[in-house]
Amino acid sequence: MASISLSGVTKRFGPVTAVDDLQLDVQDGEFFVLLGPSGAGKTTTLRLVAGIERPDEGRVLMNGEDITDMPPAQRDCAFVFQQYSLYPHLTVFDNIAFPLRSPMRRTPPAEIKQRVERVAQTLHIENKLHRKATALSGGEMQRVAIGRALVREPRVFLMDEPLSSLDAQLREELRVELKRLQRQSGATVLYVTHDQVEATTLADRIAILEHGRIQQVGTPLQVYEDPQSLHVAQRLGAPAINVLPAEWFEGSGPPRATHVAIRPEDVAVGAGNGPSHFDVIECSLVKHLVVAERSGVEVRAHTRMDQALHPGAPVRLSFPPDRCLFFDASGQRLPV
Ligand SMILES: Nc1ncnc2c1ncn2[C@@H]1O[C@H](COP(=O)(O)OP(=O)(O)O)[C@@H](O)[C@H]1O
Ligand SMILES: [Mg+2]
Repeated sequence: MASISLSGVTKRFGPVTAVDDLQLDVQDGEFFVLLGPSGAGKTTTLRLVAGIERPDEGRVLMNGEDITDMPPAQRDCAFVFQQYSLYPHLTVFDNIAFPLRSPMRRTPPAEIKQRVERVAQTLHIENKLHRKATALSGGEMQRVAIGRALVREPRVFLMDEPLSSLDAQLREELRVELKRLQRQSGATVLYVTHDQVEATTLADRIAILEHGRIQQVGTPLQVYEDPQSLHVAQRLGAPAINVLPAEWFEGSGPPRATHVAIRPEDVAVGAGNGPSHFDVIECSLVKHLVVAERSGVEVRAHTRMDQALHPGAPVRLSFPPDRCLFFDASGQRLPV
């Protein structure tokens, strides 16, 4: 396996800067996730690592070796594309076996059979091995595409939203399976997604990507608990972090704060009326979630409840100052 580094990498397409002075270090054996919305530069980053794109500026390193000018085939990356790309005239077996039969590898047939069958079992397509790729559903085709990467032992796995075309149940199953496989094999994985649940469950470390720039890197918990900007704070967490008017906190936070944010699970919920009560809008016992409102501001609180609170009922919410995050007008986190 291998480590990967991008050093000052920039990639432009005409007037668009898809990747902007990117600094990234993925360690050997790490499951590293880039999380960002559509257009953030995720796919371009993977293509730069694979060698399908060449950077306008900066260097790409693998195990410390400069591979910026190395052709894709020599880099030995297994790429799972967002849009599955199978050989339609081949069977599922032959699609998965394809990389093992390349002239560079020449794997013995018995070993090919064993490895293809193992991967097919993992992906629950063992009974589809003799079908033509065209006779599969979209979800099955994507599993074959994942299988074609997993059957190899490359230096690095590059995965471009590989689960996004699957239905919810299969996505969850394969997510757990991918993580288990990576743990067992110690593979280096660079995985990109716009789905925060995928990102936080899979990642050893996560990078928040926006407009081709990395906003923050850390373990999922570090990024969740200690976001350096309001934008990053809003990227993780469902329901999203509450953003409250700074006037509610006058005297208790940094004077320059214009936004105060607090996670739903940190809001304290008490019964009853009072000068600073909120009105319940919605209450879900199953999800332990209260949505309440005061002066047009909605607040979500995640809490264990003994009984449902009725819409319109008053509820007292408080915001422990040590759980509040303070941000300036530009969205940068302020020290307390
Ligand atoms: N081959 C290309 N030609 C022109 N623009 C491109 C090309 N590839 C990507 N882009 C642009 O670069 C930006 C980043 O794209 P991409 O890396 O695909 O983002 P993501 O995968 O995060 O959705 C987008 O604005 C996209 O339109
Ligand atoms: Mg993409």
